[in-house]
Amino acid sequence: MTNQLFINKKIESFDKKIFVSGDKSLSIRWVLLASQATGKSKSYNLLMSEDVVAALEAVKKLGIKVSIRKGYCEIQGKGINNFRYKSGLVIDSKNSGTLGRLLLGLLVKSPVKIKIIGDKSLSKRDFSRVTLPLEKFGAKFFYKLKNKLPLSILGSKSLKGINYIENKGSAQCKSSVMLAALNASGTTSIKAKKSRDHTELLFKYLRIPIKVKKTKKFDFIYIKKPKKINAFNYQIPGDISSSAFFMVLTTLADNSKLLIKNVNINPSRIGVITILKKMGAHVTLKNQKNYRGEKISDILIKSSKKLKAINCPAELNSSAIDEFLVIFLVAAKAKGISYFKDLSELNQKESPRLIWGSKILNMMGIKTNLTKDSIKIYGQPKLKIKKSITIKNYLKDHRVFMMSTIAALTLGGKWKIHDKDSINTSFPSFLKIIKDINHSSL
Ligand code: S3P
Repeated sequence: MTNQLFINKKIESFDKKIFVSGDKSLSIRWVLLASQATGKSKSYNLLMSEDVVAALEAVKKLGIKVSIRKGYCEIQGKGINNFRYKSGLVIDSKNSGTLGRLLLGLLVKSPVKIKIIGDKSLSKRDFSRVTLPLEKFGAKFFYKLKNKLPLSILGSKSLKGINYIENKGSAQCKSSVMLAALNASGTTSIKAKKSRDHTELLFKYLRIPIKVKKTKKFDFIYIKKPKKINAFNYQIPGDISSSAFFMVLTTLADNSKLLIKNVNINPSRIGVITILKKMGAHVTLKNQKNYRGEKISDILIKSSKKLKAINCPAELNSSAIDEFLVIFLVAAKAKGISYFKDLSELNQKESPRLIWGSKILNMMGIKTNLTKDSIKIYGQPKLKIKKSITIKNYLKDHRVFMMSTIAALTLGGKWKIHDKDSINTSFPSFLKIIKDINHSSL
C-alpha cells in the first residue's frame, strides 16, 4: 500500500458527530505513574498510538507487567522505583519527546546505566533541557553527541530535592523534574513558566504531597517524596490537539457543523479555542464536566464565512503549542496580516514547525515573513489553490502531515503528501474519521 496521500477534491459540507482518540499527554503520564503505583491500575480509552505503545514497552522493559485487555489496559505496578531489569538495558523512545524526557525523570535512581534511543527526529532534539536539572539531583549522563540521543543515564542512590527554574514553558521539563522528585528527600521546588498541568493534577489526585501556587506567568510547585502511590483507574478523555485538526477542518469547510464528543479542555491546553474564536471561528463548549481535576467537554464547531487576522498574544503560546501549524491555515484564509511571536519553541518539536508551517503556506501561495521565533502571515480570504503541491522530507512529523491534509481538503489544489504512516505517532484513526465525515475514500 502506498504511503502517500493524494487529495484533489475539497471536502463536501457535513453535519457530524465524532470522537477523537485519547489524550496523548494523559496517556503517557498514566502509563508512567501506574508503573510507580502499588497494585493493578486500569485505563480506559488509552491512546494506542506509537508514542504510547513505546511508553508501555518502556515500562515492560523495566520489569512492569502490562496487559492489553478488551476495552482497557492494565499495569501492575510494584511501587516507586521498584523496577527489575538486567544491565545493558536499551529503551526506545521512538518519536516521543514526552516519553524520552519524562522517563529520564523516573530513572534518576537507576543503579546501572540505561540507554535511551529514539528515531531520527527525536535524535535531533535537545535533551540538555532535562539532563541539566536531573544532574542537579545527582544523575549522570553519557552521550555520543552532547545533549542528544542516544544517551545513557546512571542514577544516584541518595537524591536530594532541588530548586529548579523552568523558563521555556515546557511541561516536559517540569514533569521530568516532578517525576524525579518522587525519589528525592526533602522538598523539590519548581518555578515554572505556565505550561500544561496534567502532572500536577494527577499528583494531587494520587495524594502525592504537592503544593501549587499559581501567579499570572509562573506556577510555583513544591513536591515531597510520597511513601506510596495507590493504584488508580483512569478514563482518558479525547485529545484537544487531535480535535484541533477537525476544528479547523470545520471552520474552513463550507456550510458544515461538527460535534466533537468528550474532549479534555484543561485550561492550560485550550489556546487553540481562544485563538480561533478571536479570529472569528464559531466554537461552543457543551456538557462541561470535571473528572479528577481535569475539565471535559463536547466541542461544537460551525463553518465560518468571515475570518480575521490575529496579533496572537504570546501568553497563549504554551496552551496552543501543538496546534499552531493548523492555526496557520486559518490565518492563511483570514482578512489581514496575522502575527505569531516568541515562538522559538515551535522549532524544537518533531520537526522545525515554524519553518515548515511557513514553507507549506508559501507553497499554497501565501506570503509569510519568517524570523527565528515569529511569523507574519498575509491572509487571503478568497484563497483557492489550483496548483499541485507535494509535501515531503518533513521528518515524518505527524502534525505536518495532518495540517497538509486539512489544507488540501479545505483550500483546493492537487496534493501529494508523503509519510501517511506518521499519523500513527499520535492519531492513528485520523484518516478514518476524515473518511467517515467525507462519505468517500481518500
Ligand atoms: C507535552 C508537552 C509539550 C508538547 C508535547 C506534549 C507533554 O512539549 O509539545 O506534544 O505531554 O508534556 P514541551 O513541554 O516541550 O513544550
